[in-house]
Amino acid sequence: MKGSILRLRATKLSLILITVVCTTFLLWGWDKSPFLVSLLPKSQSLKLSPDIFIGSPMKNISAVPKKDADNLPYFAKNETSDKHEGYDKRSKRGDRYGNYAILFLLSKLCYLYEDGENSKEKLWDASVPVNSVNTSSVVTGKKKGTVSYHVKNQTCDFSKGNWIADDNRPFYSGGRCLQWLSEMWACRLTDRTDFSFEKFRWQPKDCEMEEFSGKKFLRRMRNKTLAFIGDSLGRQQYQSLMCMVSGGRLSNDVIDVGKEYGLVKARGAIRPDGWAHRFTRTNTTILFYWSACLCDLQPVNPSDKNSEVAMHLDRPPSFLSCYLDKFDVIVLNTGHHWNKGKFDGNHWVMHVGGVPNPNKNVAEAKNFTVHSIVKWVDSQLLQHPKLRVFYRSLSPRHFFNGDWNSGGTCDNINPLSKGKEVLKEESGDPVAASAVKGTNVKYLDITALSELRDEGHISRYTIKPRQASGQDCLHWCLPGIPDAWNEILFGQLSALGRF
Ligand SMILES: *[C@@H]1O[C@H](CO)[C@@H](O)[C@H](O)[C@H]1NC(C)=O
Ligand SMILES: *[C@@H]1O[C@H](CO)[C@@H](O)[C@H](O)[C@H]1NC(C)=O
Ligand SMILES: *[C@@H]1O[C@H](CO)[C@@H](O)[C@H](O)[C@H]1NC(C)=O
Ligand SMILES: *[C@@H]1O[C@H](CO)[C@@H](O)[C@H](O)[C@H]1NC(C)=O
Ligand SMILES: *[C@@H]1O[C@H](CO)[C@@H](O)[C@H](O)[C@H]1NC(C)=O
Ligand SMILES: *[C@@H]1O[C@H](CO)[C@@H](O)[C@H](O)[C@H]1NC(C)=O
Ligand SMILES: *[C@@H]1O[C@H](CO)[C@@H](O)[C@H](O)[C@H]1NC(C)=O
Repeated sequence: MKGSILRLRATKLSLILITVVCTTFLLWGWDKSPFLVSLLPKSQSLKLSPDIFIGSPMKNISAVPKKDADNLPYFAKNETSDKHEGYDKRSKRGDRYGNYAILFLLSKLCYLYEDGENSKEKLWDASVPVNSVNTSSVVTGKKKGTVSYHVKNQTCDFSKGNWIADDNRPFYSGGRCLQWLSEMWACRLTDRTDFSFEKFRWQPKDCEMEEFSGKKFLRRMRNKTLAFIGDSLGRQQYQSLMCMVSGGRLSNDVIDVGKEYGLVKARGAIRPDGWAHRFTRTNTTILFYWSACLCDLQPVNPSDKNSEVAMHLDRPPSFLSCYLDKFDVIVLNTGHHWNKGKFDGNHWVMHVGGVPNPNKNVAEAKNFTVHSIVKWVDSQLLQHPKLRVFYRSLSPRHFFNGDWNSGGTCDNINPLSKGKEVLKEESGDPVAASAVKGTNVKYLDITALSELRDEGHISRYTIKPRQASGQDCLHWCLPGIPDAWNEILFGQLSALGRF
């Protein structure tokens, strides 16, 4: 009797404790911005400020002194007008951020999930900071039977090389890896009949790239977390890696840990804003978070479902700043949402320095944002010396004879009909290349090598009898080209050493 009463008390006590902690966090938010957070009954939306977010803002990049147009960064000035670029057919996603209040609260409370002790300690095996990796050394050999790496030439540029036929590809079956592959990207399930595009691998020039294996990956990523943050092409890379690591086999060793990262489906949303899964045997977490602009999105009026959404070009996505401490490897990308069609469809309004930006030029905004996010993560590397951050260059589109919405096609099925070799420096994404230059953010440069693979897109193939809509010459069949991006990612991580 007594025991159960005591237990009841203990339960009550912990409930009270939890309440106190939560309230503290809310009050802390209040404290920072008293007029912008209000505690309303559950049924109503919380009024939440776009100005509050966890982590350091990218202030020093934008550094917008208000009311002094001459001191604005170039982008913030009222210059040229929009060019209307094309955008892919899956563009309408106005309800994407349907439940701002919940998302915001989750991000606000993210630190509650941290497991007390050592949560700040990173688990890369050695204490070598990323900026002191010896790029000239030749490392070979085996280490205690667990870590083995063999890198002949660490100065090599993985983006130069050629595609070569290889019967050991693909790494997984597109018909079987349905635990991780979206049906719409599993071309083996569609009416496509030619799969010769699956049997190639990327061979960098003048250097040996460590061969990928799921086992090696997991062993080296023991107790570690890899986060893809970006748009649907980032999601493709994430699904590809999940299949590569699991071999595409159904595995009950993998658990859903989305909740730890606030990745739950909000009421009324089509899907959560990301997914996180853990390979329990090695305690390795791989996750994807959908941030199409790599900037922070906040509704202008949180109580209005159809509110315009402020895209704060000078702030990192709050998810990233919130969970940065938990990540060991980050792969960022953006690109195909920087056009007027997507902005309108998503009700996005560009903000810099917390205010709407007079310059509506989308290309300049993209350049500004990519530079901002790279500078911001680069600045975080000082406090997170073992964190590896990659910026993945643009995934090329292949619409011929039109665009996504004007009958553009990618009908070729013959692999490498335009050539199989890349020799040029810095392939085709000057914005990304210039952003990472001079930083410790690594460049995952896949543009030119993917440029050669126009036959690898979803194209006109579908599962159900085709609707009248156009072809998808933006996303890739899986297995397919994004697998090679992951092989290169693995190769680059290995070349950095201590992986
Ligand atoms: C950011 O700017 C503030 C003043 O605007 C300055 O004191 C601080 O040193 C800057 N930080 C960095 C990392 O440049
Ligand atoms: C920006 O330019 C537009 C037209 O190009 C003009 O109507 C508007 O007043 C300008 N805004 C500012 C703040 O200069
Ligand atoms: C880098 O590698 C070279 C060649 O192996 C070696 O001589 C040098 O001492 C190394 N530098 C550091 C900082 O480890
Ligand atoms: C290492 O890579 C560089 C640049 O790709 C190349 O010039 C050099 O010949 C390579 N060295 C060896 C030993 O492979
Ligand atoms: C899993 O890894 C995390 C760090 O990423 C660590 O904090 C945690 O203790 C590990 N869990 C287990 C069961 O090893
Ligand atoms: C992984 O984490 C667990 C629990 O914190 C620890 O016992 C183990 O040694 C770690 N393994 C590695 C390789 O860091
Ligand atoms: C992109 O932004 C950087 C940093 O603000 C700037 O130096 C560069 O000139 C810009 N490039 C373009 C093409 O606008």
